[in-house]
Amino acid sequence: MELDKYDQALLNGEYGETKQKMMEILLALGKIYEAEKFIEVKSVQVSGASFKTIGDAGLSWLNTLSGKAVVPSFLNPIGMPREEWQNLGIPDDFAKKQLEVNAAYARLGIRLTCTCTPYYFNIIERGDHLAWSESSAVSYVNSVLGARTNREGGPSALAAALTGKTPYYGLHIVKNRVPQIEFHIDDPAATKSWTNAHYGALGIIAGAISGNRIPFFTELRPNRDMLKSLGAAMAASGAVALYHVNEITPETRFPFFKKHIEEDDREVVEIEVAEIDELFGSLEADVVALGCPHLSTDELEELAFLLENRRVVMPFYIFAAEELRAKHPDLCNKILNSGAKIVPDTCMVVSPLMDKAGVVMTNSGKAFTYLPGMCNATPLLGTLEECVRVGCGE
Ligand code: F3S
Repeated sequence: MELDKYDQALLNGEYGETKQKMMEILLALGKIYEAEKFIEVKSVQVSGASFKTIGDAGLSWLNTLSGKAVVPSFLNPIGMPREEWQNLGIPDDFAKKQLEVNAAYARLGIRLTCTCTPYYFNIIERGDHLAWSESSAVSYVNSVLGARTNREGGPSALAAALTGKTPYYGLHIVKNRVPQIEFHIDDPAATKSWTNAHYGALGIIAGAISGNRIPFFTELRPNRDMLKSLGAAMAASGAVALYHVNEITPETRFPFFKKHIEEDDREVVEIEVAEIDELFGSLEADVVALGCPHLSTDELEELAFLLENRRVVMPFYIFAAEELRAKHPDLCNKILNSGAKIVPDTCMVVSPLMDKAGVVMTNSGKAFTYLPGMCNATPLLGTLEECVRVGCGE
C-alpha cells in the first residue's frame, strides 16, 4: 500500500505504541481488501460499547489502549443509561463494569454520545468518508445521506478514531456502490399506507435475500424514518451496508448511477405484500419497546401525540439519544405522564432490560430480528399505533 509520511510515522511508533498497533490493524485490513492507500475520515462511530456485548475480554483490551481520537468520534449505545440506571433494576455488577467501559472510551477521546443515530446531531454530507461501525448507522449514512463508509468492526473503527485514517476500499469507492439486486413489490399501491414497521418487515425479508449485496428498490416512496427502519432491518437479517430507493436516496439521481441502473444485469426479486403482512403477529405482549434505531424528533413527536391522555398498563420502554431527550422536554413530559419510560444512552438489545422479558412488542424489524438471540425474548411486530394500544391495554 502507498503510505504517506503520517501513515509511516504512525507505523514507526512515533505517535505511541497504541497508535502503532492501530495502524497495523488498518494496514492488515487494507492488504486483505487490496486497498491502494489510506484516506482521511471525517468522523468515526464506535460500536462495542455495551458490557453485555464486549464482556471482560473487551474491557481488558480497551484498558490496554492509550492516546486520543484525532477526529470526532461517537460512541454507540452502552448497556444502561449513564444516569439513573439504579431506577431500572440494572444489576450492580453489570453497572460497575459498564462504568469502566465508559471511562475507557472517554479516556481515548471517544465522545459518550451513546446513540446509534449520531447523524441527527452532527452534519454528515454526501461524499464524506467516514469509519462507522453500528450497522443501522452505517446503512443510514451510506444510503440516505450519501456518505461513504464500510461496515467497520469495533476495533477497526477505534483504530480509525485514533489515527484519523481508514483503508480506501469497498464502499469508499463509487464504482462499488451500484445496485446488485433489485426488489419489486407485487402490489405497489398497498405500500402507500405502509408505516415504519412495514418498512422494517420489508427489511427483514429483503436483507435475508440480499446477504451483503446492495439492494435497489423501485416503487417505494418512504420518508426518512421509514428508510431508517428498512436499512436497520436489512443490516440485521442480512449484512446490507448500503441500499438505494429509486429517485428517493441521493445517489440514484446521478447520471453514473442511472446508467448502471439501466444497463447492469442483476437478480430481480418480487416480494409479496402478503409476506410483509404475515410478519405482524397477535396483539398480546408483556412489554412494549420502541426506539430501535433510536428515535428521531418526528417519531418522538408522534409518540407524544399518541400517548397524551393515555396510561400504559405494562412496562413500556422508549429508547432515544440523551441529546434528543434534552432537546424536547415538553414532548418527553407528555410521554412520561402516561407511565412510559424514556431510556437514554442504551437500547432494548444491548442492555439487560429485555433479557427474558417474555413477549416484547416492537415496531422495529431490527429488534424483531435480534431480540430472540440477544435477549432470549419473544418478539412481536406491530405498528406504532398498535404498540401504543397494546401497551395501554386497549
Ligand atoms: Fe440502535 Fe440498539 Fe437498535 S444500537 S439500531 S437501538 S439494536
